[in-house]
Amino acid sequence: KTLIKEIDVNKPDKDLIAVFASMLASGKTVIFPTETVYGLGANALDEEAAAKIYQAKGRPSDNPLLVHIADKEDVYGLVENIDDRAKLLMDKFWPGPLTIVFKKKDIIPDRTSGGLDTVAIRMPSDQVARDLIRQAGVPIAAPSANISGRPSPTKPEHIIRDMDGRVDGILVGGPCNYGVESTIVDLSGDVAMVLRPGSITLEMLGEVLGQVDLDPSLKNKDDNIRAKAPGMKYKHYSPQAQVYIVRAGDQEDFARRVDELCLDNAKKGLKTGVLTRSSDQHPYQAQVFDLGESDAEVAKNLFDSLISLDRESIDIAYVPYFEEKGLGVAIMNRLKKAAGYRII
Ligand code: TXA
Ligand code: MG
Repeated sequence: KTLIKEIDVNKPDKDLIAVFASMLASGKTVIFPTETVYGLGANALDEEAAAKIYQAKGRPSDNPLLVHIADKEDVYGLVENIDDRAKLLMDKFWPGPLTIVFKKKDIIPDRTSGGLDTVAIRMPSDQVARDLIRQAGVPIAAPSANISGRPSPTKPEHIIRDMDGRVDGILVGGPCNYGVESTIVDLSGDVAMVLRPGSITLEMLGEVLGQVDLDPSLKNKDDNIRAKAPGMKYKHYSPQAQVYIVRAGDQEDFARRVDELCLDNAKKGLKTGVLTRSSDQHPYQAQVFDLGESDAEVAKNLFDSLISLDRESIDIAYVPYFEEKGLGVAIMNRLKKAAGYRII
């Protein structure tokens, strides 16, 4: 049976955190909020505990887990060496939604690293997450708390529906602020490489490091097989609905094209959804899902909107192409996967 408790994120109850922290310390699985998405955590140093994560998610065991720490110093016990670029990034972006790939120490078991000799580590800025990890007294391996292949959970209702009965505990906080998973950066080469784009953008990393590249294998579908972050190669973020990204000239052009598609779908008896910005007030003959207006809002609402498509039994959905700069890179990365790279 899953222990489910709500926590007030503005005034976290210490005793409640202690209960879940001791569950983690004793090898159990706990879902907890972070600033990006909810994580499904277990002791990263305990093979058996890590194995429970794969089982709860239905995740392929060659896909390594991301390790969360409470304090910057905690990284030293887990990794072989920390180069100057990593130090700069840790100073500037930790705590926060940036994951750095390091050479791992032997203390990190194969179960956690997926057999790699590296480990991906981040220090979340979410206070509940950090208190929980600190009190557990061990680094916490935590992938996103979704069933493998589904959109990542950003709101309490997403987790409770999918994960009740699959984990030992769920610590329910608020909605996640950023809504897309952390940026992953690999420093093993001369040029820093972003393996997964997120809210710490390439531009922000570039300001600190000079040159930064996006893993070229993320640029199209076939190349994704060779992606450096193993998780990026799996079918991901997919709702049941068929999602199409509509590459239109502007909002008006988008509305005109989507109107025609809605009409066609209605004739075929298909239920249509349109995911679009708040400023798009066009009267679509379809169910409209409001993504918000700024890129930050769109990122925050993205997974919730994708999950809503299924709740509303939508057959086909349309979404605009977002400009791929700043946070737009992360938004489009998730959208392309959700759409199975269908761009029209
Ligand atoms: O924001 C986040 O990062 C969330 C929250 C819960 O912290 N976590 C998350 O974990 O997204 P997960 O497991 O869903 O995604 C981690 C990604 C996977 O694609 C995995 O393949 C990759 O990180 N990864 C893990 N270890 C790696 C390593 N040593 N080298 C390269 N990629 C790695
Ligand atoms: Mg994930």
